Amino acid sequence: MKLKQIIKEQIDHRSITTRKPDRELYKGDDSFEYDDDGNIISGQDKERLGKGSFSVVYPDKEDPHMVKKLGRDVGNKGFNRKKSDFFLEYAKWITDNNLASKNIHFPRIYETSYDEENDIHDYKMERLQPYTSLSSEALWGLAKKYFDRELILKKKWFNERDDQDTNKFNLQVMITDSLDDVLTYKKLDMIRDSELLKAAKLVSSEVNKPSRTWRYDIHSDNVMYRLTSVGPQLVLSDIIY
Ligand SMILES: Nc1ncnc2c1ncn2[C@@H]1O[C@H](COP(=O)(O)OP(=O)(O)O)[C@@H](O)[C@H]1O
Ligand SMILES: [Mg+2]
Repeated sequence: MKLKQIIKEQIDHRSITTRKPDRELYKGDDSFEYDDDGNIISGQDKERLGKGSFSVVYPDKEDPHMVKKLGRDVGNKGFNRKKSDFFLEYAKWITDNNLASKNIHFPRIYETSYDEENDIHDYKMERLQPYTSLSSEALWGLAKKYFDRELILKKKWFNERDDQDTNKFNLQVMITDSLDDVLTYKKLDMIRDSELLKAAKLVSSEVNKPSRTWRYDIHSDNVMYRLTSVGPQLVLSDIIY
């Protein structure tokens, strides 16, 4: 499908589904699917791997290990900074400096192009996994591998009454919050993994440059995982805005 057509569908779709559908009304009707916000997902959107304020992400039709990320500078929530999404700058910094081949924690971005007419950036990047695809054990394993166990356990993350999904989410928050502590609050001594420490130092020295107007945006949708034969690896997929 042509980029323009995909975008048109996105825009049409957005205007149709801004009202939340009544889930009860459609109960039992398999032809409807919903996203996390209760919007109806249809057609092309069924294949969507994810969306954020600035982007929609689809699997690459030719390569199962790649995705197509379509991004705009100005997000759908109308953020009013001169330039709202900094993924373009972040991606350029990574590719210009070959960071993904130097450090496993950066996303591998292979191609970028720009559709001027529609103001859409198109990235071909590796397909990553959300935290929901990992087990609680894997997430806890990563939390302990990357961060100082004593320091992360100082905060209370769990409630005995929480269900499994909530616990899993909290494990991810444990990872992303710790990362936020490291980067935003400069607590680099929380990291015990040398590769992650290198990545954190690279990012923070770039963020601190006066020429950059980057801020951190570290949460469970912006940190993803790469599945490898030596276990999952945390990837700083979309941590700047
Ligand atoms: N490389 C990827 N592989 C698989 N899914 C992705 C990938 N990048 C992003 N996604 C999904 O799309 C969502 C939105 O992408 P993100 O990079 O956070 O963009 P933004 O928040 O700027 O719109 C993510 O939360 C994730 O679910
Ligand atoms: Mg995001």
